Amino acid sequence: MIPKETVDKIFDAADIYDVVKDYVNLKKSGANYKGNCPFHNEKTPSFMVSPAKGIYKCFGCGAAGNTVKFVMEHEKVSFPEALKILAKKYHIEIVEEILSEEQTVQKQERDSLLIVTEFAKNFFIHALHQTDEGKQIALSYYKERGFTEDIIKKFELGWSPSKKNALTETAVLKGYKINYLEETGLTVIKKETNYQFDRFAERIIFPIHTLSGKVTAFGGRTLKNDKNIAKYLNSPESEIYHKSKTLYGIYFAKTSIVKYDKCFMVEGYTDVISMHRAGIENVVASSGTALTVDQIKLVRRFTKNLSIIYDGDTAGIKASLRGIDLVLAEEMNLKIVLLPHGEDPDSFARKQSSENLINFINEHEQDFIEFKTKLLAEEAKTDPVKRAQLVMDVVKSIAIIPDTILRAEYIKTTALQLNVKEEVIYEEIRKILLKNFEDGKYKSINNLAAHAKEPKLLPVETGGLVSVSNEKEIIWFLLNFGNESISYDDDSGEHISVAEFIINEIKNESLEFQNVIYKEIFQEYDQYFSSKEESPLNYFLNHPNEKVSSIVAEIISPKKELSKLWEKKGGLTVMPEQNLHESVPEAIERFKLQIVNQKIKEINIQISNLKPEEYDTGLKPLLETLRKMADFKIELIQFTEKSALI
Ligand code: CTP
Ligand code: MN
Repeated sequence: MIPKETVDKIFDAADIYDVVKDYVNLKKSGANYKGNCPFHNEKTPSFMVSPAKGIYKCFGCGAAGNTVKFVMEHEKVSFPEALKILAKKYHIEIVEEILSEEQTVQKQERDSLLIVTEFAKNFFIHALHQTDEGKQIALSYYKERGFTEDIIKKFELGWSPSKKNALTETAVLKGYKINYLEETGLTVIKKETNYQFDRFAERIIFPIHTLSGKVTAFGGRTLKNDKNIAKYLNSPESEIYHKSKTLYGIYFAKTSIVKYDKCFMVEGYTDVISMHRAGIENVVASSGTALTVDQIKLVRRFTKNLSIIYDGDTAGIKASLRGIDLVLAEEMNLKIVLLPHGEDPDSFARKQSSENLINFINEHEQDFIEFKTKLLAEEAKTDPVKRAQLVMDVVKSIAIIPDTILRAEYIKTTALQLNVKEEVIYEEIRKILLKNFEDGKYKSINNLAAHAKEPKLLPVETGGLVSVSNEKEIIWFLLNFGNESISYDDDSGEHISVAEFIINEIKNESLEFQNVIYKEIFQEYDQYFSSKEESPLNYFLNHPNEKVSSIVAEIISPKKELSKLWEKKGGLTVMPEQNLHESVPEAIERFKLQIVNQKIKEINIQISNLKPEEYDTGLKPLLETLRKMADFKIELIQFTEKSALI
């Protein structure tokens, strides 16, 4: 782990202009610099670098951030990796902190497995190019399928010799431990006889790369046409390989995905490779299994736009529809491309010129919801029960979409397509959202408000949603000053720490962070650091969830956004860290106030949605809660005003 002091040193040394100019051709423009944005395609420069503020911003695509963020985005690396790159540039030595014994063991284990998979990869490449068998059988097969030299090299394709233990024997001779070979699945050991053999013997090899290009697993395809032999074998799950979190090809696709702000998803190894050969590089494969949330999140880091390419038989598609709803929930724009019957992207790409392939995709891309509706509508044509089921099914998909404007669009087109009234769909969606809300699944009332279409809303509070900067502020206090003590303002003279204060307040009143990342940070802080003296920064900066590490990086680095919040407070010149006993409780009160506002808004919407026949039973409890909330709000406002007066 990189010590906090070193992190600070790197932040201080890394000048934004100095770093960005290595990647972008910058021209001076007033106090700033201007250039073509490296994050999207453009001809006229809308990318600005401000040395004074230490940030970059693109007015075309919205990319923005500080120096470290720039390196993370540009190099597609994690926070610690970006720091290392910058440290190298500025000759700052990183002496990593010593890991705990358990962490060390785990890291060593992972490193050992990676060393073995790296060895195996090279062994397979060597066998392909340098042995007679490899050249005669495997290389000629690749060539026959139209894989060029370049492509074979790029994807590090290989051959596992037909000799049953060729890899195992060589590896053991060279000193690689058999247990690592077994754990990565490269060697299979028969329990009874202790017979050791290569899992992939006599197969062509597709190495599977991580986001940063390390090989953690393999897919092996047999060249035999024997129905009794599995066409593909894959590495088993291991400490370094989790199939559900992996997308084949992501390492080779990431730059292109960002450049075109779009990702294609195909089924298999050969599909990815053939599309690359045809010049389409923003493509990944789910490797034949149903999509998982983790896989979608991986894509989501680079783009919101996902297009799934299917071969033309619809049976397979119907099976995967459910998994696809996951994509919508991640705020992705989802398109479907159907290839002609009997073609997969590989076979199709081989028959077409690159240009035709791209044209075909452009012309045949359909919106997912429209596609799903059409597919199901055909089945349900004459059956009214099925039709009702269909409406519900499509509505469920629409309800998942978090973006309300996009959702409204879908409602419009779906209503047309299904020949039902828009109101019917709104009504169904409202039911689903309300139910989710009651089940606590619901993130924000935002969605509900947008769907309370009829203008019979009671006047609601404006700005009632919890603003993220408010939550951020609390996390900022927690991470930076958690261990400092504040005296509580009753007269007991009791001192408690900032962390204790925040955690008590939040937990006692069962307040919830709306932003999932802040929520995660809060929960882990509570779990691991609430009673420790140790600074939590390193833990969070090196967090396995990169969203956590980069948000924390952002929070602890320049506090522009936050200081804006304080400036608003009537020209306050004291920095909040200088009077924590006031600024922390105030931040909490602001947070509470926003939650109360939000609750009030929710209740108002519920009231406005009551049907006349529900007034008798429904109205009273809602009004009661409303009054309670209003009282609470007054209390909070009085507190805030009081503290503003002091
Ligand atoms: N797959 C697998 N195990 C199998 C069959 C398939 O893991 N027994 C995965 C592989 O990732 C494969 C993908 O599912 O790439 C798609 O399978 P399939 O269409 O059968 O293979 P192709 O990729 O089309 O391979 P080829 O063109 O060589 O037949
Ligand atoms: Mn195929």
